[in-house]
Amino acid sequence: MIVLGIESSCDETGIAIYDTEKGLLSHALYSQIALHAEYGGVVPELASRDHIRRIVPLVEQAFEKAGLKPDAIDAIAYTQGPGLAGALLVGSSMAASLGMALGKPLIGVHHLEGHLLSPLLAKNPPVFPFVALLVSGGHTQLMRVDEVGRYELLGETLDDAAGEAFDKSAKLLGLAYPGGPEISRLAERGRPDVFHLPRPMLHSGDLNFSFSGLKTAVLTTLKKEVHPEDDQVRADIARAFVDAIVDVLAAKCAQALRQTKLRQLVVAGGVGANRQLRAALDNMAARRRYRVFYPELEFCTDNGAMIAFAGAMRLLRNPDAAHMGYGFTVKPRWPLEELTAA
Ligand code: KG4
Ligand code: ZN
Repeated sequence: MIVLGIESSCDETGIAIYDTEKGLLSHALYSQIALHAEYGGVVPELASRDHIRRIVPLVEQAFEKAGLKPDAIDAIAYTQGPGLAGALLVGSSMAASLGMALGKPLIGVHHLEGHLLSPLLAKNPPVFPFVALLVSGGHTQLMRVDEVGRYELLGETLDDAAGEAFDKSAKLLGLAYPGGPEISRLAERGRPDVFHLPRPMLHSGDLNFSFSGLKTAVLTTLKKEVHPEDDQVRADIARAFVDAIVDVLAAKCAQALRQTKLRQLVVAGGVGANRQLRAALDNMAARRRYRVFYPELEFCTDNGAMIAFAGAMRLLRNPDAAHMGYGFTVKPRWPLEELTAA
C-alpha cells in the first residue's frame, strides 16, 4: 500500500510518500522559520498563506523524487489536527481535492500520533509496548504506547510545553526564534554550576511537568547580573537552563519506565532533536539498561513522513479507516486520548 502524507498544522509544509512494503519513498519539506523569525513566533495568517504557496510544488516534488505518477498511491493521509485552523485547512483541502481528482480515499491523522510513531520509521525501530516522551513546541507528555491507537497518558505539563520553555528562555537571552536549537548551542559554551535554576516538580511523585517557572528564573537571573549582555554570562545561564530542563525530563522518563516496568523509551517531537537531552537520556538508560529510540533528526520536527506513516499504519489495521467523502473537517483542538485503536 502506498500512502501520500500531507502535514500543514503549523509552520512546516511536509509532503511524503510511504510504501508499506518498501518504506519511505520520498519526502519534501518547506520550513517557514525564516518567515516568522522577525515576529518572534508563528503568525497564523502568514503560515496559512505560505502553506498555500508551497504545497503544490512540494506535492509535485514528492512524486518526482519517488518516481511515481499520482495515480500510483492508494490513499492520502493528512494532518487533521491539532494545530492552527487555517494552516490545517490548506493541507486538508489539498488532500480532498487530490483525492477527488484521483478517486483515492482519505484518512485524517492526529499530528501527535504522527510524532509518537515517527521513531518506527528508523532502521532499528522499537517494538510495542513502549513509553513515549512527546516534547514539542505545543506539547509535553509521557505516554504509554501499547499499539497504534492505544495510548495512555502518564503525565503532562501543567503549563508551558518544553519547546515553549526553550523558545521563551532563548528570547530572554536575546536569541532568534525558534530558540530551542540556539539556546542549546549557546549552552555548550556555558560552564556548569555557575548559576543554578530550579528543577520544577522533580520530586512531585507524579509524572507531570511545570516549566513556566523556569523562564521566570532565567529572567530573574538575568536581572540580577551586572553584565547580562556578557557573552559568557549568557552562555552560563543558557547552560543552567538546559541542565535544569534536561534533568527534569530525564528523571521523569526514568520514573515512567520504572512505573510501567517497560524497558524502551521513544522520544518524539522537536525538542527530541536536543543534543543535551539525548545525552542525558542515553546516560540514564545505559545505567539502567533501558533502550532509547529517537526519530531521525529530520523527522523530529514536523514533517510529512510521520503523517504518511501513521496513516499507513492505521490503514493496515483497518482499511475502513479511510473514506471517500471529500467534505473535510479540521480539528484544531483534538485530545490524543480521543483516539481509539480501530
Ligand atoms: O515538533 P515541532 O517541530 O513542532 C510542534 O510544536 O509541533 O517542535 C518545535 C519545537 C520548538 O519549540 C523548537 O524550539 C524545539 O522544538 N526544538 C528544539 C531543538 N530543535 C527544535 N529545542 C531544543 N533543542 C533543539 N535542538
Ligand atoms: Zn509537531
